[in-house]
Amino acid sequence: MAKQSTIRTPIVCVMGHVDHGKTSLLDRIRGSSVVSTEEGAITQHIGATLVPIDAITRMGGALSKVSVNVPGLLFIDTPGHHAFTTLRARGGALADMAIVVVDINEGFRPQTIEALQILRNYKTPFVIAANKIDRIPGWRVQGNQPFLKTFAQQNERVQGMLETKVYELVGKLSDLGFNSERFDRVSDFARNICIVPTSALTGEGLPDILMVLIGLAQRYMTESLKVSAEGPGAGTVLEVKEERGLGMTLDVILYDGNLKVGDEIVVAGNDQIIETKVRSLLKPRPMSEILIEERFERVKSVTAAAGIKVAAPKLDGVIAGSPLQAVRGGNRDEVIERVRHEV
Ligand code: GTP
Ligand code: MG
Repeated sequence: MAKQSTIRTPIVCVMGHVDHGKTSLLDRIRGSSVVSTEEGAITQHIGATLVPIDAITRMGGALSKVSVNVPGLLFIDTPGHHAFTTLRARGGALADMAIVVVDINEGFRPQTIEALQILRNYKTPFVIAANKIDRIPGWRVQGNQPFLKTFAQQNERVQGMLETKVYELVGKLSDLGFNSERFDRVSDFARNICIVPTSALTGEGLPDILMVLIGLAQRYMTESLKVSAEGPGAGTVLEVKEERGLGMTLDVILYDGNLKVGDEIVVAGNDQIIETKVRSLLKPRPMSEILIEERFERVKSVTAAAGIKVAAPKLDGVIAGSPLQAVRGGNRDEVIERVRHEV
Protein backbone atom coordinates (compact mmCIF):
# COMPACT_ATOMS: atom_id res chain seq x y z
CA MET A 1 0.00 0.00 0.00
CA ALA A 2 1.33 3.43 -0.92
CA LYS A 3 2.25 5.54 2.06
CA GLN A 4 -0.10 8.46 2.53
CA SER A 5 1.57 11.79 2.16
CA THR A 6 0.20 14.72 4.16
CA ILE A 7 1.25 18.33 4.58
CA ARG A 8 2.63 18.74 8.03
CA THR A 9 2.38 21.76 10.31
CA PRO A 10 5.12 24.29 9.51
CA ILE A 11 7.50 25.10 12.36
CA VAL A 12 7.89 28.82 13.08
CA CYS A 13 10.74 30.20 15.20
CA VAL A 14 10.11 33.48 17.01
CA MET A 15 13.33 35.50 17.06
CA GLY A 16 14.50 39.00 17.90
CA HIS A 17 16.23 41.28 20.37
CA VAL A 18 15.78 40.76 24.10
CA ASP A 19 12.57 42.29 25.51
CA HIS A 20 11.10 43.17 22.12
CA GLY A 21 8.13 40.87 22.87
CA LYS A 22 8.72 37.33 21.54
CA THR A 23 7.26 35.50 24.52
CA SER A 24 4.42 38.01 24.93
CA LEU A 25 3.46 37.55 21.28
CA LEU A 26 3.13 33.79 21.76
CA ASP A 27 1.30 34.23 25.05
CA ARG A 28 -1.16 36.52 23.35
CA ILE A 29 -1.65 34.19 20.38
CA ARG A 30 -2.47 31.44 22.87
CA GLY A 31 -4.71 33.67 24.96
CA SER A 32 -6.75 35.39 22.27
CA SER A 33 -7.23 32.35 20.13
CA VAL A 34 -8.52 30.43 23.13
CA VAL A 35 -11.17 33.13 23.44
CA SER A 36 -12.15 32.96 19.78
CA THR A 37 -12.29 29.17 19.48
CA GLU A 38 -13.45 26.26 21.52
CA GLU A 39 -11.42 25.53 24.60
CA GLY A 40 -8.34 23.41 24.19
CA ALA A 41 -7.86 24.20 20.51
CA ILE A 42 -4.44 25.66 21.12
CA THR A 43 -2.14 23.10 22.65
CA GLN A 44 1.03 23.60 24.58
CA HIS A 45 3.76 21.24 23.44
CA ILE A 46 7.17 20.67 24.87
CA GLY A 47 9.05 23.81 23.86
CA ALA A 48 6.34 24.81 21.39
CA THR A 49 2.76 26.00 20.88
CA LEU A 50 0.45 24.45 18.28
CA VAL A 51 -2.19 26.73 16.74
CA PRO A 52 -4.56 24.82 14.43
CA ILE A 53 -5.74 26.39 11.19
CA ASP A 54 -9.37 26.90 12.21
CA ALA A 55 -8.23 28.96 15.20
CA ILE A 56 -6.16 31.09 12.81
CA THR A 57 -8.88 31.65 10.21
CA ARG A 58 -11.46 32.43 12.86
CA MET A 59 -9.31 35.29 14.10
CA GLY A 60 -10.04 36.86 10.72
CA GLY A 61 -6.89 38.52 9.49
CA ALA A 62 -6.47 40.08 6.06
CA LEU A 63 -5.49 37.62 3.31
CA SER A 64 -8.36 35.39 4.41
CA LYS A 65 -8.88 34.60 0.75
CA VAL A 66 -5.79 32.41 0.60
CA SER A 67 -6.80 28.81 0.03
CA VAL A 68 -5.62 27.12 3.13
CA ASN A 69 -4.16 23.63 3.11
CA VAL A 70 -1.72 23.91 5.98
CA PRO A 71 -3.00 22.22 9.16
CA GLY A 72 -1.79 24.96 11.50
CA LEU A 73 1.42 26.50 12.84
CA LEU A 74 3.82 25.20 15.47
CA PHE A 75 5.62 28.07 17.20
CA ILE A 76 8.96 27.86 18.97
CA ASP A 77 10.11 30.65 21.26
CA THR A 78 13.85 31.23 21.07
CA PRO A 79 15.14 33.22 24.03
CA GLY A 80 17.98 35.28 22.66
CA HIS A 81 17.60 32.95 19.66
CA HIS A 82 20.45 30.91 21.06
CA ALA A 83 18.70 27.62 20.35
CA PHE A 84 18.08 28.56 16.75
CA THR A 85 21.71 29.50 16.16
CA THR A 86 22.99 26.24 17.62
CA LEU A 87 20.47 24.19 15.72
CA ARG A 88 21.22 25.87 12.45
CA ALA A 89 24.93 25.66 12.97
CA ARG A 90 24.56 21.93 13.47
CA GLY A 91 22.64 21.60 10.25
CA GLY A 92 19.35 20.68 11.84
CA ALA A 93 16.34 21.53 9.70
CA LEU A 94 14.29 22.95 12.50
CA ALA A 95 12.50 26.10 11.42
CA ASP A 96 10.49 26.36 8.22
CA MET A 97 9.72 30.03 8.81
CA ALA A 98 10.38 32.75 11.37
CA ILE A 99 8.87 35.83 12.96
CA VAL A 100 11.43 38.52 13.74
CA VAL A 101 10.01 40.68 16.51
CA VAL A 102 11.17 44.31 16.58
CA ASP A 103 10.05 46.92 19.10
CA ILE A 104 8.76 49.55 16.66
CA ASN A 105 9.74 52.33 19.06
CA GLU A 106 13.31 51.08 19.51
CA GLY A 107 13.99 49.85 16.01
CA PHE A 108 16.73 47.39 15.09
CA ARG A 109 19.14 46.21 17.78
CA PRO A 110 22.15 43.88 17.53
CA GLN A 111 20.17 40.67 17.99
CA THR A 112 17.62 41.77 15.40
CA ILE A 113 20.39 42.08 12.84
CA GLU A 114 21.95 38.80 13.88
CA ALA A 115 18.59 37.05 13.49
CA LEU A 116 18.19 38.50 9.99
CA GLN A 117 21.66 37.37 8.98
CA ILE A 118 20.94 33.82 10.14
CA LEU A 119 17.66 33.78 8.23
CA ARG A 120 19.34 35.06 5.09
CA ASN A 121 22.10 32.45 5.32
CA TYR A 122 19.60 29.65 5.57
CA LYS A 123 17.11 31.18 3.12
CA THR A 124 14.35 30.86 5.71
CA PRO A 125 11.18 32.84 4.84
CA PHE A 126 10.22 35.28 7.57
CA VAL A 127 7.92 38.12 8.55
CA ILE A 128 8.69 41.17 10.71
CA ALA A 129 6.43 41.89 13.68
CA ALA A 130 6.75 45.65 14.27
CA ASN A 131 5.65 45.23 17.87
CA LYS A 132 4.44 47.48 20.70
CA ILE A 133 2.36 49.76 18.46
CA ASP A 134 0.18 50.46 21.52
CA ARG A 135 3.14 52.45 22.91
CA ILE A 136 2.93 55.00 20.12
CA PRO A 137 1.76 58.16 21.94
CA GLY A 138 -1.98 58.68 21.41
CA TRP A 139 -2.65 55.11 20.22
CA ARG A 140 -6.30 54.07 20.72
CA VAL A 141 -6.42 50.37 21.50
CA GLN A 142 -8.83 48.16 19.51
CA GLY A 143 -8.17 44.84 21.22
CA ASN A 144 -7.42 41.82 18.99
CA GLN A 145 -8.40 43.69 15.81
CA PRO A 146 -6.70 43.13 12.47
CA PHE A 147 -4.22 45.89 11.75
CA LEU A 148 -6.18 47.79 9.08
CA LYS A 149 -9.23 48.02 11.32
CA THR A 150 -7.30 49.45 14.24
CA PHE A 151 -5.24 51.71 11.97
CA ALA A 152 -8.44 53.27 10.56
CA GLN A 153 -9.47 54.23 14.10
CA GLN A 154 -6.28 56.20 14.80
CA ASN A 155 -6.01 59.93 14.21
CA GLU A 156 -3.84 61.30 11.41
CA ARG A 157 -0.94 62.23 13.63
CA VAL A 158 -0.76 58.72 15.10
CA GLN A 159 -1.12 57.15 11.65
CA GLY A 160 1.69 59.35 10.40
CA MET A 161 3.91 58.36 13.30
CA LEU A 162 3.33 54.67 12.64
CA GLU A 163 4.11 55.13 8.95
CA THR A 164 7.36 56.94 9.77
CA LYS A 165 8.42 54.14 12.10
CA VAL A 166 7.54 51.46 9.54
CA TYR A 167 9.62 53.29 6.92
CA GLU A 168 12.55 53.43 9.32
CA LEU A 169 12.36 49.63 9.44
CA VAL A 170 12.07 49.46 5.64
CA GLY A 171 15.25 51.58 5.43
CA LYS A 172 17.17 49.38 7.88
CA LEU A 173 16.08 46.24 6.05
CA SER A 174 17.15 47.77 2.78
CA ASP A 175 20.63 48.44 4.23
CA LEU A 176 20.80 44.70 4.91
CA GLY A 177 19.72 43.87 1.38
CA PHE A 178 16.05 43.04 1.98
CA ASN A 179 13.13 44.65 0.15
CA SER A 180 10.22 45.13 2.50
CA GLU A 181 6.85 46.84 2.81
CA ARG A 182 3.91 47.05 5.18
CA PHE A 183 2.19 43.69 4.64
CA ASP A 184 -1.05 45.09 3.23
CA ARG A 185 0.90 46.68 0.36
CA VAL A 186 2.79 43.51 -0.53
CA SER A 187 1.44 41.60 -3.49
CA ASP A 188 4.34 39.22 -4.06
CA PHE A 189 5.92 37.47 -1.08
CA ALA A 190 8.86 36.48 -3.24
CA ARG A 191 9.86 40.12 -3.79
CA ASN A 192 9.06 41.74 -0.46
CA ILE A 193 9.35 40.95 3.22
CA CYS A 194 6.09 41.72 5.03
CA ILE A 195 6.16 44.09 8.00
CA VAL A 196 3.12 43.58 10.23
CA PRO A 197 2.49 46.21 12.94
CA THR A 198 1.45 44.36 16.11
CA SER A 199 0.86 44.69 19.80
CA ALA A 200 1.51 41.58 21.84
CA LEU A 201 -0.15 43.38 24.74
CA THR A 202 -3.49 44.17 23.04
CA GLY A 203 -3.55 41.54 20.28
CA GLU A 204 -3.79 44.14 17.50
CA GLY A 205 -2.30 42.88 14.24
CA LEU A 206 -1.98 39.30 15.44
CA PRO A 207 -4.64 37.93 13.04
CA ASP A 208 -2.61 39.44 10.20
CA ILE A 209 0.74 38.03 11.19
CA LEU A 210 -0.80 34.56 11.37
CA MET A 211 -2.34 34.91 7.92
CA VAL A 212 0.93 36.18 6.43
CA LEU A 213 2.68 33.09 7.81
CA ILE A 214 0.02 30.85 6.26
CA GLY A 215 0.45 32.71 2.98
CA LEU A 216 4.23 32.19 3.11
CA ALA A 217 3.79 28.50 3.83
CA GLN A 218 1.47 28.08 0.87
CA ARG A 219 3.64 30.09 -1.43
CA TYR A 220 6.93 28.45 -0.60
CA MET A 221 6.69 25.19 1.13
CA THR A 222 3.76 22.99 0.32
CA GLU A 223 6.25 20.67 -1.41
CA SER A 224 8.76 20.61 1.42
CA LEU A 225 5.99 20.10 3.97
CA LYS A 226 4.81 16.93 2.31
CA VAL A 227 6.03 14.29 4.69
CA SER A 228 5.04 10.75 5.26
CA ALA A 229 3.13 10.61 8.53
CA GLU A 230 3.88 6.89 8.51
CA GLY A 231 7.64 7.22 8.22
CA PRO A 232 10.23 6.84 10.99
CA GLY A 233 10.39 9.95 13.18
CA ALA A 234 13.02 12.64 12.70
CA GLY A 235 13.52 15.55 15.04
CA THR A 236 15.87 17.89 16.82
CA VAL A 237 16.77 17.85 20.51
CA LEU A 238 16.05 21.25 22.05
CA GLU A 239 17.02 20.40 25.60
CA VAL A 240 18.41 17.57 27.70
CA LYS A 241 16.85 17.58 31.16
CA GLU A 242 16.76 15.42 34.23
CA GLU A 243 13.16 15.06 35.48
CA ARG A 244 12.28 13.63 38.84
CA GLY A 245 10.68 10.23 38.41
CA LEU A 246 11.68 10.01 34.76
CA GLY A 247 15.46 10.26 34.80
CA MET A 248 17.21 11.93 31.88
CA THR A 249 14.81 13.15 29.18
CA LEU A 250 15.02 14.87 25.81
CA ASP A 251 12.77 17.75 24.75
CA VAL A 252 12.37 17.12 21.05
CA ILE A 253 10.76 18.93 18.15
CA LEU A 254 9.64 16.22 15.75
CA TYR A 255 9.58 17.53 12.17
CA ASP A 256 9.03 14.36 10.15
CA GLY A 257 7.25 11.02 10.44
CA ASN A 258 6.15 9.60 13.76
CA LEU A 259 7.70 8.33 16.97
CA LYS A 260 6.35 5.44 19.03
CA VAL A 261 7.04 4.00 22.45
CA GLY A 262 9.51 1.15 21.90
CA ASP A 263 11.13 2.75 18.82
CA GLU A 264 14.89 2.40 18.51
CA ILE A 265 16.35 5.90 18.26
CA VAL A 266 19.75 7.34 17.41
CA VAL A 267 21.01 10.64 18.89
CA ALA A 268 24.39 12.33 19.19
CA GLY A 269 26.32 12.35 22.45
CA ASN A 270 29.37 14.41 23.38
CA ASP A 271 31.80 12.04 21.81
CA GLN A 272 29.80 9.18 20.44
CA ILE A 273 26.57 8.19 18.74
CA ILE A 274 23.99 6.87 21.22
CA GLU A 275 21.49 4.17 20.34
CA THR A 276 18.61 3.61 22.72
CA LYS A 277 14.93 2.78 22.90
CA VAL A 278 11.98 5.11 23.65
CA ARG A 279 10.63 4.20 27.09
CA SER A 280 7.94 6.85 27.25
CA LEU A 281 6.61 9.81 25.29
CA LEU A 282 5.24 12.68 27.34
CA LYS A 283 2.97 15.56 26.45
CA PRO A 284 2.42 18.45 28.84
CA ARG A 285 -1.04 18.59 30.36
CA PRO A 286 -3.13 21.70 29.64
CA MET A 287 -2.96 22.79 33.27
CA SER A 288 0.48 22.40 34.76
CA GLU A 289 0.29 20.50 38.00
CA ILE A 290 2.86 20.70 40.72
CA LEU A 291 3.68 17.01 40.75
CA ILE A 292 5.86 15.90 37.89
CA GLU A 293 3.84 12.73 37.22
CA GLU A 294 0.80 14.92 36.67
CA ARG A 295 2.50 17.52 34.57
CA PHE A 296 2.77 15.08 31.70
CA GLU A 297 0.43 12.78 29.93
CA ARG A 298 1.89 9.56 28.52
CA VAL A 299 1.11 8.88 24.88
CA LYS A 300 1.89 5.84 22.72
CA SER A 301 2.88 7.72 19.59
CA VAL A 302 3.22 11.22 18.18
CA THR A 303 3.19 12.55 14.60
CA ALA A 304 5.14 15.53 13.18
CA ALA A 305 5.18 18.41 13.66
CA ALA A 306 5.09 18.29 17.44
CA GLY A 307 7.03 19.03 20.57
CA ILE A 308 7.44 15.98 22.80
CA LYS A 309 9.44 14.86 25.82
CA VAL A 310 11.24 11.54 25.30
CA ALA A 311 12.33 9.36 28.21
CA ALA A 312 14.81 6.59 27.47
CA PRO A 313 17.82 4.83 29.01
CA LYS A 314 21.39 5.94 28.21
CA LEU A 315 20.63 9.59 27.53
CA ASP A 316 23.54 10.94 29.58
CA GLY A 317 25.75 13.09 27.39
CA VAL A 318 23.23 13.74 24.62
CA ILE A 319 23.90 17.22 23.25
CA ALA A 320 21.26 19.90 22.78
CA GLY A 321 20.86 20.50 19.07
CA SER A 322 21.47 16.85 18.26
CA PRO A 323 19.39 15.24 15.54
CA LEU A 324 17.10 12.43 16.67
CA GLN A 325 16.22 9.67 14.23
CA ALA A 326 14.05 6.60 14.68
CA VAL A 327 15.30 3.32 13.30
CA ARG A 328 12.71 1.19 11.57
CA GLY A 329 12.77 -1.55 9.00
CA GLY A 330 16.50 -2.25 8.90
CA ASN A 331 17.76 1.23 8.10
CA ARG A 332 20.01 1.34 11.18
CA ASP A 333 23.36 1.92 9.45
CA GLU A 334 21.93 4.60 7.24
CA VAL A 335 20.38 6.35 10.25
CA ILE A 336 23.62 6.28 12.25
CA GLU A 337 25.46 7.72 9.28
CA ARG A 338 22.89 10.48 8.91
CA VAL A 339 23.05 11.47 12.58
CA ARG A 340 26.85 11.48 12.49
CA HIS A 341 26.78 13.64 9.39
CA GLU A 342 24.30 16.17 10.82
CA VAL A 343 26.12 16.78 14.10
P1 GTP B 1 13.50 37.76 25.98
O1 GTP B 1 12.88 36.40 26.01
O2 GTP B 1 14.11 38.14 27.29
O3 GTP B 1 14.48 37.93 24.84
O4 GTP B 1 12.34 38.87 25.75
P2 GTP B 1 11.05 38.75 24.85
O5 GTP B 1 11.38 39.19 23.47
O6 GTP B 1 10.42 37.42 24.99
O7 GTP B 1 10.11 39.88 25.46
P3 GTP B 1 8.86 39.69 26.42
O8 GTP B 1 7.74 39.09 25.68
O9 GTP B 1 9.31 39.05 27.66
O10 GTP B 1 8.46 41.22 26.66
C1 GTP B 1 9.32 42.13 27.33
C2 GTP B 1 8.52 43.23 27.96
O11 GTP B 1 7.83 43.99 26.97
C3 GTP B 1 7.43 42.72 28.90
O12 GTP B 1 7.35 43.59 30.00
C4 GTP B 1 6.16 42.80 28.09
O13 GTP B 1 5.01 42.97 28.86
C5 GTP B 1 6.42 43.99 27.22
N1 GTP B 1 5.73 43.93 25.92
C6 GTP B 1 5.84 42.94 25.00
N2 GTP B 1 5.09 43.20 23.93
C7 GTP B 1 4.48 44.38 24.17
C8 GTP B 1 3.56 45.21 23.43
O14 GTP B 1 3.14 44.91 22.30
N3 GTP B 1 3.16 46.37 24.01
C9 GTP B 1 3.61 46.76 25.24
N4 GTP B 1 3.18 47.92 25.72
N5 GTP B 1 4.45 46.03 25.96
C10 GTP B 1 4.89 44.85 25.44
MG1 MG C 1 11.12 35.66 25.93
